Amino acid sequence: MAHIRPYLMKQILSDFGSAAVFEVTGLKKNYDDGNVQALRGVDLKIDQGEFVAITGPSGCGKSTLLQMLGALDSPNDGTLNYRGKSLPGLADLAAYRAKEIGIIFQAFHLLPTFTAVENVQLPMFESDRPASERKDQAISLLKAVGLEHRINHFPTKLSGGERQRVAIARSLANGPSVLLADEPTGNLDSENAHIILDLIIRLHREQNMTLVLVTHDLTIAARASRTIQMMDGRILSDNNATS
Ligand SMILES: Nc1ncnc2c1ncn2[C@@H]1O[C@H](COP(=O)(O)OP(=O)(O)O)[C@@H](O)[C@H]1O
Ligand SMILES: [Mg+2]
Repeated sequence: MAHIRPYLMKQILSDFGSAAVFEVTGLKKNYDDGNVQALRGVDLKIDQGEFVAITGPSGCGKSTLLQMLGALDSPNDGTLNYRGKSLPGLADLAAYRAKEIGIIFQAFHLLPTFTAVENVQLPMFESDRPASERKDQAISLLKAVGLEHRINHFPTKLSGGERQRVAIARSLANGPSVLLADEPTGNLDSENAHIILDLIIRLHREQNMTLVLVTHDLTIAARASRTIQMMDGRILSDNNATS
């Protein structure tokens, strides 16, 4: 593969379909019966393996855009494709959310009555893998995020940084190829924020996982290979190095 010339590579890729993970055109999203126009026409293409930071002031539509990509809500207008297929039209959106993508938020959203290892297993409940395998997988994910000593702890017994690491392990439970992260270090002190950011970036690199990271922190955005700046529901700038 190393000797394939670029034009041949392009041909191969086009033969097997587009390398784009997300292709978004004219995306609009309103709230409150149209009184709030959170997205006013967003065009965007994200390729497999990219690390994209989405920045912009509070209220500019970053979280709304991420929610559209994660199929947590549906747009009012425009097209939204995931690997060449219309996302709102996918037959099984629950499977898309559970298996194709991992999502992490500023608020970690762990279930308080479940231990760390149980929280990590939550997305696997629909899988037909045996329970023991699911538990082993959850334990190895917790090891991967450095929490092998916290497996049976409840969220209230964990620090903020540890909770976010559990949430990251949970987001990886079904081996997603895309990680969507909305201000994942927003609730953390700077030391824990660094640990979490380094962890996410390592996962992106080691697993060629496409990473879309929403942040209003420009020092965090500077770690990405591509930065998209939003303003008032639109993309203001995109230093897309790949096109
Ligand atoms: N569920 C909702 N209902 C009504 N308005 C919303 C809702 N979610 C977001 N908004 C509004 O949409 C706009 C964009 O919000 P959001 O995407 O959360 O921005 P950001 O993440 O960049 O801070 C804001 O004006 C916000 O108040
Ligand atoms: Mg937000």
